[in-house]
Amino acid sequence: MSELSGTLQYFKGLEGVAVTESSISYVDGVRGKLLYRGFDVEDLVEHSTFEEVAYLLWYGHLPSEGELCELREKLMKFRKLPEEYLKILKTFPLDVHPMDFLRASVSLLGLFSTPDECGENTRMDCAIRLTAQLPMLVTIFHRRRMGKELNLDVSEKLGHAANFLYMLRGKPPESMEETIMDKALILHAEQEMNASTFAAVVTASTLSDMYSAVTSAIGTLKGPIHGGANEKVVEMLEEIGDPEEAEGYVERCLAEGRRIMGFGHRIYKTYDPRARILKKWAETLVNIRGGRAKRHFEIAMKLEKAVTERLGNKGIYPNVDFYSGIVYECLGIPKDLFTTIFAVARVVGWTAHVIEYNETNRIFRPRAIYKGPMNLNYKIEKSKR
Ligand code: ACO
Repeated sequence: MSELSGTLQYFKGLEGVAVTESSISYVDGVRGKLLYRGFDVEDLVEHSTFEEVAYLLWYGHLPSEGELCELREKLMKFRKLPEEYLKILKTFPLDVHPMDFLRASVSLLGLFSTPDECGENTRMDCAIRLTAQLPMLVTIFHRRRMGKELNLDVSEKLGHAANFLYMLRGKPPESMEETIMDKALILHAEQEMNASTFAAVVTASTLSDMYSAVTSAIGTLKGPIHGGANEKVVEMLEEIGDPEEAEGYVERCLAEGRRIMGFGHRIYKTYDPRARILKKWAETLVNIRGGRAKRHFEIAMKLEKAVTERLGNKGIYPNVDFYSGIVYECLGIPKDLFTTIFAVARVVGWTAHVIEYNETNRIFRPRAIYKGPMNLNYKIEKSKR
């Protein structure tokens, strides 16, 4: 026995463990509620814009007109990427997953950031800078791989969400598309101490820099049981192919002990409030747009019924990733970009938590319960080989 193994408490996956105090967001997993700085996310989606919500999450209060204007100007100014950086970025391979490109390109951006731009006294500007830069990186990747020109000459009239769609697709979005993207970014901006936010905070707890924290977070978000699930959901809907096959698919997954993507959550043991909103939009959009997304929505509805009938008693319901992919499909976005959109939104939550945590910083250094051998004799063990 090691000296501490009898006294250490072990909670697999840190379930039920709080790692910090925070006033950024609150998740009520029983009632299915999500609050950003005290405001119900459903209200924010209804009445607010992504820029306003980003300000709220970073600064802790809703912005005045002047404060919002200043934030918008900064977001616009910070979209400009250094020429030298762009030259190197153009040498990056394009036959990779967009999340890998995003992770590597944010890390590379760190090489170009000066202490003036991203030092101890400019952390908030660094958060805004990263939020402005992430959509640019996704756009650059996507347009280059499509062999299309880069739309780096951004329109000053467009807000964050509209500009992202404009740059990605090369034409200004319709007003409804702009609204949906703006609201999707609000819904994905923050969710307490989820895995990628925790990764960002762990990195920042060593007093490392913001680019390193966000690079850690992107690598963590990518995983298929975290943010990567939105892409996997649409792959699953494609595999099922027919609404009549949904029930059989669920039966097979359960018999084989496989997870059904887009269902279940560590905290929500009821319908994820974000999924409820996304489902409504998906339904509206597929009825307007039709096509593959409509088919996917029909399969998703059957799947939801089959899963909740079987697993609802275990608290397993659709999570944020279940309907978001169908919404993005309706906006003409390819499925391998879905998780990058998540990152484009969640960078606000990551950086808000990094800034908050650093205010009362303590390095993360948990223990592992040692289960290996002790006191081995090197010579004896070596002689056995
Ligand atoms: N399909 C089938 N069964 C499930 C699912 C699922 N999607 N999710 C959980 N379960 C079951 C488990 O098999 C387990 O059953 P058991 O108690 O009989 O063994 C029970 O529910 C609890 O599961 P855990 O793995 O302990 O739950 P945990 O909190 O660790 O995991 C997670 C949460 C990772 C989200 C899980 O539900 C999952 O893998 N879901 C599918 C992937 C997904 O959609 N991820 C996105 C989550 S949202 C986000 O991160 C942005």
